[in-house]
Amino acid sequence: MNPLSLKNTFKEIFGSEPMLVKSPGRINIIGEHTDYNGGLVMPAAINKAVYVAISKRDDEQIQLYAESYQEKYIGSLNNVEKCEKPWANYILGVVHGLLQRGFTLSGFNLYIYGDVPLGAGLSSSAAIECATAYALSQLNQLPITKIDLALVAQKAEHEFAGVKCGIMDQFASVFGQKDYAMMLDCESLEHEYIPLKLDGYKLVLFNTNVKHSLSESAYNERRAQCEQGVAWVKVQHPEVQYLRDVSPQMLLEYVMPKDAEVYTKCSYVVAEIDRVRRAAAALKDGRLEALGKLMFETHQGLSKDYEVSCKELDFLVEQVKGLNGVLGARMMGGGFGGCTINIVKDEAIADLTNKLTKLYHDRFGLTLSTYVVETANGAQLLP
Ligand code: GLA
Repeated sequence: MNPLSLKNTFKEIFGSEPMLVKSPGRINIIGEHTDYNGGLVMPAAINKAVYVAISKRDDEQIQLYAESYQEKYIGSLNNVEKCEKPWANYILGVVHGLLQRGFTLSGFNLYIYGDVPLGAGLSSSAAIECATAYALSQLNQLPITKIDLALVAQKAEHEFAGVKCGIMDQFASVFGQKDYAMMLDCESLEHEYIPLKLDGYKLVLFNTNVKHSLSESAYNERRAQCEQGVAWVKVQHPEVQYLRDVSPQMLLEYVMPKDAEVYTKCSYVVAEIDRVRRAAAALKDGRLEALGKLMFETHQGLSKDYEVSCKELDFLVEQVKGLNGVLGARMMGGGFGGCTINIVKDEAIADLTNKLTKLYHDRFGLTLSTYVVETANGAQLLP
C-alpha cells in the first residue's frame, strides 16, 4: 500500500489526518538462538514492512484497526490489558511498556497494514511492535532512544504475546540499514554494520508455508534449557552471565554430567556464537563460499542438536546441498516452520525456484513461496 492510499484509508475510518510510519521485517544471515544467550547475531532489515497510520484523539481512547483482519479494537489508556486479538496485543504491549516507563501518551487512532508474510519467520510481530513504538514516540514527541524503543517492543512480545524472545528482531527492525547486515552483540547491544556484498549472488528465502504449533512452547523451553546450563556452570564460575561466556570445556565439565540433553543444546549455542564471528570475517573478506559453508553447519546444528527444525525445512536444505550455484542454506528464525535462507547465484535462481517448488509440492502437497530479498532501512517516518 502506498502512503497516499494509507492516508486515505485512515481518513475514511477515523476521519482525521494521520502521521505515517513504517518498520521492516528482518532476515538473519547467521546466529540463530544466540540472542537470548547474550551472543552474536547477523540480521538485516528487509523490504517487507509494517505500516502504521496514527493520529491523536481528544480523549483517553485507543482505537485500532487492522487491515489484514478487517477488525477493530477499542480500549482505553487507563486500562491497557491483554485482549483476545493477537494482533492488538502486540500494539497494546507497546502502549503498556511506554506507560510503564513513565511516558505520557495521548489517546490515539491507529491503522495497521503490513506485507511481511505472517508465520514465515520474518518477524512480522517485531515489525508491528516497532512500528507502533516508533509511531507513538513520534506522535507524542517522547524523549526515548532507539535502543529503548527496541527494548519496549521486545518486552511487549514477552508480556503480551508470551514469547521470551531475544532482542534480534526488534533491534533489526529499528536499526536496519539498506545494503548492510549488522553484527549485533546481544549482551552489550553494540553493533557493527557490515556491507552485504554478494557479487553475483542473492539472498533467497524459500517459505515452507508451515508453522508447527510447537513453536512457542519449544522456544521458551530451549531458552530455559540454556539458562539451566548457565546455572550449573555458574556454581563454579560465578562471573558467567550467559552462554556466551561459557567455553566448550566448561560445558563438558559442569553440564554434561548433569544432563546430556541440556549439554547438547548449550553446545549448539556456544558453537553458533563462534560461527557468527567466523561468518562476519568471511563476509568482510568476500569469502562467500566460507560463509555459505557456515550456514549449512548452522542448519545441521539447529536440526540435529538444538532440534528446532522440521521435516519441511530439512527437506529444503537437503535439496539444495551440493547444487552448483547455491553457496549456503539453512532454516531461519525460531524454527518449526517458516523460511530457509539461501545464497544463490543470480542465474540459478529461476531454475532452482521452479525445481524446488515442484519437489516440495510432490513431497508435501504444499505450495512453496519464494522471496528474493532486498535489504532496507529500519523504522522511519513516511512523508
Ligand atoms: C525468534 C526470536 C528471536 C531469536 C530467533 C532465533 O525470531 O524472536 O529473538 O531468538 O527466534 O534466533
